Amino acid sequence: MRFPAPGRFKNAAAFAEHWRSLGNDLDCFADLAVSAEVLHRPLSVGPWHLVNRFVCHPMEGWDGTESGLPSEHTLRRWRNFGRSGAPLIWGGEAFAVQEDGRANPNQLYLNPKEDVLGALVALRNEVEQGRREVGEDAGDLVIGLQLTHSGRFSRPEPGPLQAKIAYHHPILDEKFHIAPDAPVLSDGELEAIGEHMVQAACLAAEAGYQFVDVKCCHGYLLHELLGAHRRAGPYGGSFENRTKLFRRILQEIRSRCPQIAVLCRVSIADVVPFQANPDSGIGEPTEDLNALPDWGFGVQRDPDHATDLEEPFQFLNLLQELHVPMVNLSLGSPYYCPHLQRPAAYPPSDGYQPPRDPLMDVAVHLRIARACKKAFPNLVTVGTGYTYLQEYLPHVAAFEVEQGGVDLIGLGRMLLSYPELPLDLLHGRELDRRRICRTFSDCTTAPRNGMISGCYPLDHHYKQLPEADRLKKWKAGYRV
Ligand SMILES: Cc1cc2nc3c(=O)[nH]c(=O)nc-3n(C[C@H](O)[C@H](O)[C@H](O)COP(=O)(O)O)c2cc1C
Ligand code: SF4
Repeated sequence: MRFPAPGRFKNAAAFAEHWRSLGNDLDCFADLAVSAEVLHRPLSVGPWHLVNRFVCHPMEGWDGTESGLPSEHTLRRWRNFGRSGAPLIWGGEAFAVQEDGRANPNQLYLNPKEDVLGALVALRNEVEQGRREVGEDAGDLVIGLQLTHSGRFSRPEPGPLQAKIAYHHPILDEKFHIAPDAPVLSDGELEAIGEHMVQAACLAAEAGYQFVDVKCCHGYLLHELLGAHRRAGPYGGSFENRTKLFRRILQEIRSRCPQIAVLCRVSIADVVPFQANPDSGIGEPTEDLNALPDWGFGVQRDPDHATDLEEPFQFLNLLQELHVPMVNLSLGSPYYCPHLQRPAAYPPSDGYQPPRDPLMDVAVHLRIARACKKAFPNLVTVGTGYTYLQEYLPHVAAFEVEQGGVDLIGLGRMLLSYPELPLDLLHGRELDRRRICRTFSDCTTAPRNGMISGCYPLDHHYKQLPEADRLKKWKAGYRV
């Protein structure tokens, strides 16, 4: 690791000095108790009263059954989400709306041959049970289901990707071995996927979920469609066309199951795909920077200054016009810019060494979220990218909330290694440093090599699985 990880700083003052040195707009609170007080402030969003500022981001575990139902690992993860103290469970995990749209053969999906309704109820019950286990009121929970089709990154069976693309992308096609004559999803196929999204939303409503997230992030289908400038026909070209399927899904859900709210997680900005330098292994952008704004959504020439936000703002404006009250802001994709999408000290096995101090990429998340909030003060925002801050996550998160840069703090990996961190913080208990996520990326490396995902280094549940040994050997250079 070439950069000082936050956990290496001896106290908040030392960390703050480093953090401020990375940009004169960056700062944090020095005091943990003050940070806890800020993050404990409630927030009302429409009919929902959120009792604090934490949100559990969606995280799948590649651990469902082959027929798309939750396994004991899946249920345990959702219970842990409930144990976090976060009142807003943003989607739980990506739930594929049809079999061929799974990102892995063990993803949960809308399987017409199975009792999906029962499975969704069981998952919701686990969250509630988890919240009760830690002494909190399950009635405070707002739970959603994230609906997805994995598009270009579909892998419904073991083996290579079975990509379903919205358009041909010169860099991503080459990177992921998609032939130039591979078929593009037809308009009819897109509409059928939209119909399955609506059916899944109605099932989630029946299972007692308060909202669905129509997922538009991380390179998956609806995100790819937002950038389909070069697609012909009614779903490509103009902004209006590129958002047509999203709008259609939203309107259909509202008319057919009005009791469920529709929210959206979006990769609000993006960068040119990165690759490892063949000599150093360090990540660098692919060459075609200038060609890219037309080949994606919100692609930034200079992410640090986030100046290319015209279309991202157009999308947020659309959400506002459609009366979507809240948006979860993410960036990029774990497949082609993991250093940005989930800043980490150690890359996943298919990644590259961080191109710069990962804190700089945390800062990109914060700056873009601030810009969005400033332009759309009435839209409630959930920020991403906080786990890499480690011990100083509360100090930075509270500072962002206090200065109005973001409303809610979404947590991903930290809740895999240490689900109770928010609750410990809010109750003034000492944080357990041994459980703080150190961004080893095993939870990404394991599934990339056909194993279930989980926090192998820090969670005893995974440490004792046979996969832990396989992963260790794999990392040591022995493919097993
Ligand atoms: C194992 C794993 C699974 C994930 N699954 C999803 C998912 O299903 N849907 C989604 O929108 N993001 C998913 N993410 C991304 C996280 O929600 C989050 O955006 C990312 O980890 C960055 O936040 P963090 O820095 O707090 O970890 C996943 C991340 C990890 C590590
Ligand atoms: S494996 Fe554990 S420590 Fe490593 S990134 Fe994932 S949650 Fe964090």
